[in-house]
Amino acid sequence: MFFTATFLSIILIFILLHVWFPWRAKQEEKERIAQEAVRRGCLPAPTMSKKGFLGFGRLIEGLRATRDGRGPNYVIDSIDSEMGKDVDTVLVPIFDYNLIVSRDPDVIRHVLSNTLTDWDISEHRSESWNPLVGHGIFTARGEHWKHSRALVRPQFALDQINDLFMFERHVGQFFEAMDRHRAIGNRWTEAFDLQPYLYNLTLDIVTEMLFGYSVHSQNPAERVELPEIRGFNTPDRANIGKHMDGGKAWIETRGALWKYRWLLPCGEFYKHCAAIHEYAQWFVQLRLLRGDKYLDGLQQHDSDNSNSERYCLLNELAKLTQDPTELRSQPLNVLTAGRDTTAALIGWMFYFLARHPRVFRKLRNEVLGVFGPFLPSCPTNIAFRPLRDNMPYMNAVINETLRVAPVVPLNERVALRDTVLPTGGGPNRDHPIFVPKGTQILIPTYALGMRPRSWGEDYAKFKPERWLTGAKDYGFAYIPFGGGSRQCLGRKLPSSPLTSSPEIMVLTNFTEQLTRIKASYVTVRLLQRFDRLRNAERPYDAPMKFHHTIENRSESGVQIRMRAAPWSI
Ligand code: HEM
Repeated sequence: MFFTATFLSIILIFILLHVWFPWRAKQEEKERIAQEAVRRGCLPAPTMSKKGFLGFGRLIEGLRATRDGRGPNYVIDSIDSEMGKDVDTVLVPIFDYNLIVSRDPDVIRHVLSNTLTDWDISEHRSESWNPLVGHGIFTARGEHWKHSRALVRPQFALDQINDLFMFERHVGQFFEAMDRHRAIGNRWTEAFDLQPYLYNLTLDIVTEMLFGYSVHSQNPAERVELPEIRGFNTPDRANIGKHMDGGKAWIETRGALWKYRWLLPCGEFYKHCAAIHEYAQWFVQLRLLRGDKYLDGLQQHDSDNSNSERYCLLNELAKLTQDPTELRSQPLNVLTAGRDTTAALIGWMFYFLARHPRVFRKLRNEVLGVFGPFLPSCPTNIAFRPLRDNMPYMNAVINETLRVAPVVPLNERVALRDTVLPTGGGPNRDHPIFVPKGTQILIPTYALGMRPRSWGEDYAKFKPERWLTGAKDYGFAYIPFGGGSRQCLGRKLPSSPLTSSPEIMVLTNFTEQLTRIKASYVTVRLLQRFDRLRNAERPYDAPMKFHHTIENRSESGVQIRMRAAPWSI
């Protein structure tokens, strides 16, 4: 009898604790949300149906779409087909939570402009990333983010960062790799995939920028032997790119599963994380041991600039802090934000150039008009200012590429407190929407760039000319570098007739400028050297596929053939 009573009491307590109280709390929260929405004059957003087993169907569909190379399209396809083409903001119920997806530029402007007060990146994003790159500018929230941004952002204002001599060295090795696809005496290359070469090129550049030591993935023979540091393994230079790629693929899936990421067995992920930490830790230790002499002997080509003039993020940061964890994490945060993004952008540019011979010819004319042909005897004839200021068509091609194939196609924020979206609620979708604290909003950059109401009926066409004529300021329908306080490092001037020009805009946004300079530099070099470009993908008109692991690159690579210009052989 006693045991039965005890048993029943335990069951009762269990039900109260795990079923009744949570259910009651949920009902109370629902009532509170409804009252708060009325008080603020809000109406609900159109709500999509719950899908699949326990409501996890949308997550699974999203993961499948990513696997099939159409992750960024999934948002457009599902909203268009289930809710209608004129619906921009929807509520998506998933198991026990709701998220919001919006492709309305006004809603996105509101969210990004109120980042830090009402919105920030979600703790799930930072927790997914932290094991790989540690707390730093890209992953931190709140006060820690402010500290990181104040530490890292000024480093990108330094002039030395746009080191064209350094780019030229690595581009030279890039050309050697291209030439291996061309038989002696033949002007045409065989068909090959340009994309992996671009990833190697940007890895070589960015590791030199961040750690003062290039991994020389393009030509390992260029690597300088590193000294021994007692208690530290020599950095695994050959595999750092592989570990970054592997780690990021895991993060993409962890991020997509949001608070259910613990369901994933992540042993392999943690191996990538350990390898990357070990790599960066070695350079941090060397900087701490050597102090101002850190850069001495870290590369073969000390003659470009004296070591005191050479830009290296780790070296600059170490002038401000000696905290080894910070010195390891901040460069890794920047590595993750800066390497693959630039490679993916250049890859997509050549993907489109190969399919649009008219654009290729027009761009090549601009390149030759500004810099002349490639002369083997005088390879570094490219100056910074004309590269930045005198290439309107190059900027238009970059802009259009980032619209049609945004390198960061999906972003997110989470509500830090109860807040309101300015529009999208109610039957006419013109009322504010109440958003309870903790709700995540997905920001589909790709869908914003494919919105007929912002871009016109030819929105699906690759047309760089749209950036040269008519409206050039598409507001928050065009946010490839993000917006608000957490945008890619730098600051855009407030909108004015002057700032609607892409040329002026790039002056104020440091990493965007760095990206444009790097992408333009590589493109100028390639177009000087090669006078024809052909699409070698088979089938020729295969649909565009996105390989989305944080950054978005072409799933089928950049399959091309190029013909060397007569004077460059
Ligand atoms: C095509 C090239 C690039 C694109 C499309 C791009 C895009 C972006 C976007 C969308 C964000 C905002 C993320 C958010 O809102 O949560 C961002 C942030 C950031 N980007 Fe870039 N980026 C590019 C290149 C670079 C480069 C070259 C660097 C550095 C070398 C860099 C460093 C950063 C950093 C550190 C942040 C974090 C800023 C913060 O949270 O305060 N990015 N980038």
